[in-house]
Amino acid sequence: HGATGPFPEGFLWGVAFAANQVEGGFDEGGKGLSQADVIPFRTARDYVDISALMKASDETIAEAAATPGAAGYPKRSGSDFYHRWEGDVELFAELGLSALRMSIAWSRIFPTGVETEPNEEGLLFYERLFSRLRERGIEPVVTMSHYEMPLHLVTEYGGWTNRAVIGHFERYARTIVTRFRGLVHYWLTFNEINTTVIEPYTGGGVIEREPAPGVDPRQASYQALHHQFVASALAVRLVHELDPDARVGCMLARMAHYPASSDPADVVKAQFDNNLNLFHTDVQVRGRYPGTVRRFWRDQGIDVVMEPGDEALLAEGTVDFLSFSYYMSLVSSVSLEKYGATGGNLFSTIKNPHLPTTEWGWHFDPEGLRYVLDDLWDRYGIPLFIVENGLGATDVLEGSAADAAAGTPDTRAVHDPYRVDYFVQHLRQVREAIADGVELLGYTAWGGLDIVSASTSQMTKRYGVVYVDADDLGNGSYDRIRKDSFFWYQRLVATNGAVL
Ligand code: BG6
Repeated sequence: HGATGPFPEGFLWGVAFAANQVEGGFDEGGKGLSQADVIPFRTARDYVDISALMKASDETIAEAAATPGAAGYPKRSGSDFYHRWEGDVELFAELGLSALRMSIAWSRIFPTGVETEPNEEGLLFYERLFSRLRERGIEPVVTMSHYEMPLHLVTEYGGWTNRAVIGHFERYARTIVTRFRGLVHYWLTFNEINTTVIEPYTGGGVIEREPAPGVDPRQASYQALHHQFVASALAVRLVHELDPDARVGCMLARMAHYPASSDPADVVKAQFDNNLNLFHTDVQVRGRYPGTVRRFWRDQGIDVVMEPGDEALLAEGTVDFLSFSYYMSLVSSVSLEKYGATGGNLFSTIKNPHLPTTEWGWHFDPEGLRYVLDDLWDRYGIPLFIVENGLGATDVLEGSAADAAAGTPDTRAVHDPYRVDYFVQHLRQVREAIADGVELLGYTAWGGLDIVSASTSQMTKRYGVVYVDADDLGNGSYDRIRKDSFFWYQRLVATNGAVL
């Protein structure tokens, strides 16, 4: 694309998704079950009973998974990318993209997580995909783990609460970094690492109910998180050792907190809440836990067990860039009861009277993205990458498919000016941040294709610029239909942002 627009030369324009939400083919190609495959359909943030899951044996789970039809478990069919990826890559090429952020399903490579040898068929799937992307001039930006841990590691090990999982992850990371050397230049370790604080067993995307009885949830959370920090630092070190041409980043769900009022107590509370979100990147960028978090642990009676060498490893395994998702801002106050609540993808929050909300009740706050970019750049001074931003909305498919017998053409279309508006508003703020001097590697819009929602498992919460003709129960042709926003995004990329 041209370098004439307001975005830097070589800026990576892309779309983003995760294997567990897009691929389907959950039991094909030697893939094992992942946590995502056992999440039933739910329209709200219903909890998954993690203790029941941990008590269930692999056999019971495998039996349930063999039940015909993926309807009750939408992530088992996703958007059928596993079977349609070649056509989808052509759509991304038609969009003119220079990047695709995606993830590898860990359980395609190590079906239970504990095998010593990888599943060659899984490796081949990604190798062919990455090669094709490169042929089309699209840089794969690859998350090693995005809410899709092998289920066996959750049920038999207790997921990230168990230190032994680090070694299994390290073997997986070594396998993929070695195999895809030269094909992948941008790695991310864990998606939204801060979700582990609320989902210590799986690392996110499940919405866990209480952990096992008798376990202190906060203790479990911070211990699990420490294990993930160590695993991430090991992966960073591996990338640096095995492929010096590749760059590796961390990934945070950035939740900017605004004070509800100018009451200094609210301001300090917002600062604390921001620190509790940013300490994840403090660890991964600066290589050490900040004092505020150590104090928080002390105040809460949380005792994180670290092994000798852990802290040195954290200091050594710092990232080359910081990537993050941005969907909304939150509001903090010391007197919560004064305010009403609204929704969010990870945490619900006080309603901000200055902001509209989306259909799903998430604050719509484009300026917050500029605030976040400027703030992260000031705090860390390393390149940033927006790897998720987008609007989940209900779309209406108009027209009808071609009917050869009746000789009618395909008139299907989706008019989604609201999605274009979302991108315009947010990207204008990104442009401002770049003008402020922020070094930004790229922007990958969440979805690209419509995919199964992480929090609600709905297909009808649509993020894509390409419509996928399937409903929440997996009925439909799975045909791909370019939405109006597709053609707008194509112009955005072609002009390097000059259309904004
Ligand atoms: C992020 C996740 O939290 O938000 C994605 O990394 C997710 O996996 C996205 O899809 C949007 O959330 P949701 O719940 O609307 O799919």
